[in-house]
Amino acid sequence: MEFIDVVKSRRSIRTYDSKEVEDEKINYVLECARLAPSWINRQCWSFIVVKDKKTIKILSKTTIINRWLRKVPCIIVACGDPKLSGTHNGIEYFTVDVAIAMEHLILAATDMGLSSCWIGGFNEKKVKEALGMPKGIRVVALTPLGYLAKKRRILGGIIKIITRSKKRRSLDEIIHYDKW
Ligand SMILES: Cc1cc2nc3c(=O)[nH]c(=O)nc-3n(C[C@H](O)[C@H](O)[C@H](O)COP(=O)(O)O)c2cc1C
Repeated sequence: MEFIDVVKSRRSIRTYDSKEVEDEKINYVLECARLAPSWINRQCWSFIVVKDKKTIKILSKTTIINRWLRKVPCIIVACGDPKLSGTHNGIEYFTVDVAIAMEHLILAATDMGLSSCWIGGFNEKKVKEALGMPKGIRVVALTPLGYLAKKRRILGGIIKIITRSKKRRSLDEIIHYDKW
C-alpha cells in the first residue's frame, strides 16, 4: 500500500473475527515498532504479545469500556520503563517513546491487512497483575490485533458514533505558519 493509503485506511476496529493472526505478521509489526525513534535512543519499550484466551479474557475485564476485547485473537500490551527514558520540560518521555513505537506497530498492522484499536481505557494495576509485570514498568497502551469481523456488533457502532471517529479538525484549525 502507498503510505497515505495506510494512514487513511487505519481506523479503530472493535469487532474481530476469531481467525488467529499469523506469527510472521506479528513479528513484522513488532519489528516496525522496534525501529521507532526514542529519547536519546533509550528504547525504553517492551511489548507483551498475548494470545492465550484465558489471559485475553482477564485483560478485557481490566478495561473500563472495552469488554469487547474478550473476543479478539491477540492483544499487544505496550509498556515503558520510565527510568530508562527521560523527563524534559515536564514531559515524561517514556509515554512519547512508547506511543511512537505503538503507532509504527499499528500502521504496520494496517499495511498487513490487520485491524487494531488503540486502548487507553484500562486499569493499569489490574493489567500489570494479570501479566506479572515488574513494579517499575508502566503500561502505556494496548491494542488488539486481528481480522475485521464480517458481522458487525452494535457496541462498536455506538462507540464510533460517540467518538465521531471519522471526523478530523481541518488543517486551517491546527496549522500555524511562522507564529501561533
Ligand atoms: C490515547 C488513545 C486512547 C484510546 N482509548 C480507547 C479506548 O480505551 N477504547 C476505544 O474503544 N478506543 C480508544 N481509542 C480510539 C479512539 O476513540 C479513536 O482513535 C478515535 O475515535 C478516532 O477514530 P479512528 O481511530 O477510527 O480514526 C483511543 C485512542 C487513543 C489515541
